[in-house]
Amino acid sequence: MDKSIEDIKDEALKAIDAADDRQAVEAVSTRYIGRKGVITQFLRNLSNLPKEDRPGAGKRANQVKELLQKAITDALSAIDARAAGDIEIDVSLPGRSAQRGYLHPVTQVTHQICDIFRRLGFDIAEGPEVETDYYNFQALNFPKDHPARDMQDTFFVSDTVVLRTHTSPLQIRTMEKYKPPLRIIMPGKVFRCDSDLTHTPMFNQVEGLMVDEHISLGDLKGILTVFVHEMFDEQTGLRFRPSFFPFTEPSAEVDILCVICRGEGCRVCSHSGWLEILGSGMVHPALFENVGYEADRYTGFAFGMGVERIAMLKYGIDDIRKFFENDMRFLGQF
Ligand code: PHE
Repeated sequence: MDKSIEDIKDEALKAIDAADDRQAVEAVSTRYIGRKGVITQFLRNLSNLPKEDRPGAGKRANQVKELLQKAITDALSAIDARAAGDIEIDVSLPGRSAQRGYLHPVTQVTHQICDIFRRLGFDIAEGPEVETDYYNFQALNFPKDHPARDMQDTFFVSDTVVLRTHTSPLQIRTMEKYKPPLRIIMPGKVFRCDSDLTHTPMFNQVEGLMVDEHISLGDLKGILTVFVHEMFDEQTGLRFRPSFFPFTEPSAEVDILCVICRGEGCRVCSHSGWLEILGSGMVHPALFENVGYEADRYTGFAFGMGVERIAMLKYGIDDIRKFFENDMRFLGQF
């Protein structure tokens, strides 16, 4: 009698294994553990056994019933899982590639600018965006009543602390830290209280500084000419227009031949044929005094350019605010 319940068990497990859809599994279930199934029948026939064998056989039959119940449940969930898989996997569908991130155009152009100067032997340095009045103005030879200190341009944190209005304070910070000869390029965010088509309260600058014995305006012109030719192209001419900055003497603004009309005159260059791209000049000896360099031994040049402006000229963008709206349709084009 014991052997026969084991036979029933083996037979039922084989049948469950062979059943390959829900209907087949359910049929096996009805057949073996249903109300009128084989196991029920078996339990009913227990009375035919000798009295002392009945409890053991009954217990075993109930164990087998539980075991079959579990095998049936497992088989049904395996079939369901397979069916779900069948619906989702369509091998004829083209693959879905994961979307890759990329650098913001302003970051890309910053890297391009820094790369060009790195190839010319410049090192990269950075510094704080919240700056003291000393580094932002005083050490850069700004007289106390200079209009650039005016509330209209400068975000003041306190009487003596500002959001840096340019990257030029890094000239002082790097000269305090290193002795000449010096060739450094310094990218970073700057802040001015200004907002329109071509100005945002935060924008990016790249500052350049070269100090050694015998550095001349010719070196400045040579380095910037290489830069413009690499950044735009060899046909892009440039001119030095006399200007003024408290921290350079002499000072010059650099214009490039309009990238749109090539000097003919158009809307972008206000019909002048030229576009201003940066401020520059020979480092004022007062700065050397401020950082403890021998002012009669060293000379140097410095320049500072706006990254967004370069990016706008390079890609023909007419509104600087597009860089900061984070519209993926715009940003995705670079
Ligand atoms: N700091 C100046 C500006 O923001 C640019 C500049 C840098 C000019 C270095 C001369 C030398 O306008």
